[in-house]
Amino acid sequence: MVQWKGGVGKSTLAVHLAAALDAVLVDLEPWGGATAWWAGGRSRNLWQAAGPAPVLRALQLGRTPRPRAGEAGRPRLVPSHEQLLALTEDATNGIAAWAWSADGRPTLMVNTSHGPKPLADALRDAIPRWATEWGAHVLVDTPAGFGPLADGGVAAADVVVLPVTLDQWAVPALRKFMASYAPRVRRGLVVPNRVRARVVDDRWAEVISADGVVQEPFVLGPPIQESEVLHAARRPLSAGPAPSAARATALQQIQRVATRALELAER
Ligand SMILES: Nc1ncnc2c1ncn2[C@@H]1O[C@H](COP(=O)(O)OP(=O)(O)OP(=O)(O)O)[C@@H](O)[C@H]1O
Ligand SMILES: [Mg+2]
Repeated sequence: MVQWKGGVGKSTLAVHLAAALDAVLVDLEPWGGATAWWAGGRSRNLWQAAGPAPVLRALQLGRTPRPRAGEAGRPRLVPSHEQLLALTEDATNGIAAWAWSADGRPTLMVNTSHGPKPLADALRDAIPRWATEWGAHVLVDTPAGFGPLADGGVAAADVVVLPVTLDQWAVPALRKFMASYAPRVRRGLVVPNRVRARVVDDRWAEVISADGVVQEPFVLGPPIQESEVLHAARRPLSAGPAPSAARATALQQIQRVATRALELAER
C-alpha cells in the first residue's frame, strides 16, 4: 500500500486486504495505523515493546521475523514500532545513519547481517525472502510521503496498491505520483476509495478512468465505497455472525480488490 498523500485509506484497506488474502501484514508505518487497529487497546504493548523494532531486528540478524498470529479473522502481523519513527526523525540512535550515496543523495543506511545497507534496498531484498519462508502473500503498509520505508515496500512488491480519494487534490497528486514511481513499479493497482454515490464523485471517476490518466504499469482497479463499516470497524469484516448488508458489501468490495491484486501479481 503506497500513496504519498496521507489519509487516503492505505492502512484501512491494508488490514482488510491482508485478511482477505490470508497474507502476513507487515506494518512499516511509523505511527502504525494498521497495528493500532489490529491490537486495539493493547497496541501500545507492541509499539513500545523493548526494541529493536521487529523489522529492524530481522534485517540486522538476517532472519525472518515471526509474525504475530491473527485471531478471529485478523491477519498475521509484523507490527510497527516506535523505533520506525526515530528512524526518519533522528538517525543518531545507532539503528540507522544517514550517508551520502554514490550519486550524492542522502541515504538512510541500516545495519544488516551483510553490513550497512540503504534501508530501502534492505527491505527490497528481505521482504520477498520472508514471503517465501512464510509461504504466504505479504501485504506491506507504508507511511504517506516519499521515504525509504515506502521506497523499500515499492521495490519489494509485485503489485503496488494505490488508494486514491476522488477530489480535486487527489487527482493531480495521483498523476504526479504515478509519473515519478512508474519506472520502479512492476504493476500498480489504483483503487478509488471512499467513493460516494454523488455527482461530484461520478465526475472524478470519469476523470481518472479517462484514457491516458492511469497508464502502464498502473491499472485502474475496482472501487471501494465510503463505508461506515470500514470507517468504524474495530473487528475483521469476516468476524462474528452473518454479516449485515453493509458489512457484506464492504467485504465483497475488498475481496474484488484482493482478487485483482493477485491477478496482477501472477502475470
Ligand atoms: N472506504 C472508507 N470508508 C469510510 N472511511 C474510510 C474508508 N477508507 C478509509 N477511511 C477512513 O479514512 C481515514 C484515513 O484512513 P487511513 O488511516 O487508512 O489512511 P492512510 O492512507 O493509512 O493514512 P496515513 O497516510 O496517515 O497513514 C480513517 O478515518 C479511515 O477510517
Ligand atoms: Mg496509514
